[in-house]
Amino acid sequence: MARVLLGVSGGIAAYKACEVCRRLVKGGHDVVPLVTPGAERFVGAETFRALARRPPADDVYLHLTRADLMVVAPCTANTLAKLAHGLADNSLTEAALAHRGPMLVAPAMNPRMWSHAATRANADALHARGVVLVGPDEGETAEGELGVGRMSEPAEIVRAAEALLAGTSPLRGKEVLVSAGGTREPIDAVRFVGNRSSGRMGVALAAEAHRRGAHVTLLAANLSVAPPVGVDVIETQTAADLEREALARGAVADVVVMAAAVADYRPAEALATKRPKDAAGWTVELEPTTDVLEALGATRRAGQVLVGFAAEASDGAGGERGLERAREKLTRKKADLIVFNDVSRTDIGFDATDNEVTLVSGTIPAVTLRKASKEDIAVGILDAVELLLG
Ligand code: CTP
Repeated sequence: MARVLLGVSGGIAAYKACEVCRRLVKGGHDVVPLVTPGAERFVGAETFRALARRPPADDVYLHLTRADLMVVAPCTANTLAKLAHGLADNSLTEAALAHRGPMLVAPAMNPRMWSHAATRANADALHARGVVLVGPDEGETAEGELGVGRMSEPAEIVRAAEALLAGTSPLRGKEVLVSAGGTREPIDAVRFVGNRSSGRMGVALAAEAHRRGAHVTLLAANLSVAPPVGVDVIETQTAADLEREALARGAVADVVVMAAAVADYRPAEALATKRPKDAAGWTVELEPTTDVLEALGATRRAGQVLVGFAAEASDGAGGERGLERAREKLTRKKADLIVFNDVSRTDIGFDATDNEVTLVSGTIPAVTLRKASKEDIAVGILDAVELLLG
């Protein structure tokens, strides 16, 4: 599955864009329609939203949505000119400027407009910039003229879109295993030792990997957020559950991301029933758990990318000591990448919606991803994973 921005500009071929939208959705893609006011004269934006199964009230920053591909179909002579010159006067052209990634354009216009020197120069400029043009085709236009100007058939446009998507992310088709949340270690039948991890970071990573075309398995340790649609979810409540599933599934994974806060200690003995309250104290002995990341590092196969997290409290030395410890974890656990975050900050990390992290690796330069939503941080982490896979 990929996210596709579908720009629809104002020509009669807009009705054929409904079929492009339908086919992309049927292909399992998340389609974000961007319908220009000109296109609305032919087909309402509501039609595209319904076909794309999008809620009616979309956010105003829709054009800033990160996507794997932008498709403009139909692309009128006017929109083609705007794309060539970088104008941004509606959501489609704004999105085109903000979009980083492949772009597919399906021109549709009167044959004389298509053959005009200005349009030719605009098409050439887009082509030179790496934009892929599909069509226009030869035939009879809606107004009955013969020549080249008809928009390519929806099936053809979608085929070209799929071809572009196939060549996009190195994660496409890869097996990705992500752990998320926090384990709970039982003391008795109802009580446990746990931690504050919500699972947001791991869930965002699973969603992003899925969006890039990976087959994702999520080891879910007591998530307080919903897991993403389209990924396989395995419930792993305790460190022992997580260890068992991670080691079994890690063997076949191309990428393993250990984002879960796995308990470092568990009660040595868990009572089978609930311990009734009395006046006496209760001493619980804790024993260490297996470090799952370290165990994965010890058994990893060549070519696998192993990512761990390092939750460290800052030490007032500009985070340098925390970074040092993260580097030590990278070596000790034989990981390729450690995502280091400062747990002493309350505005990021544990149980927060935002995060700020530094990526530490032996092979790519360290990079700090400044405070942003965990979804955006997930994008940065997976960009680094792609580099490591490459
Ligand atoms: N981890 C793990 N198994 C454990 C504990 C931690 O796989 N039993 C993984 C986490 O998923 C994370 C990484 O190890 O990817 C680092 O966890 P963290 O708690 O930051 O560090 P620790 O290794 O526990 O070391 P310290 O106690 O020094 O913080």
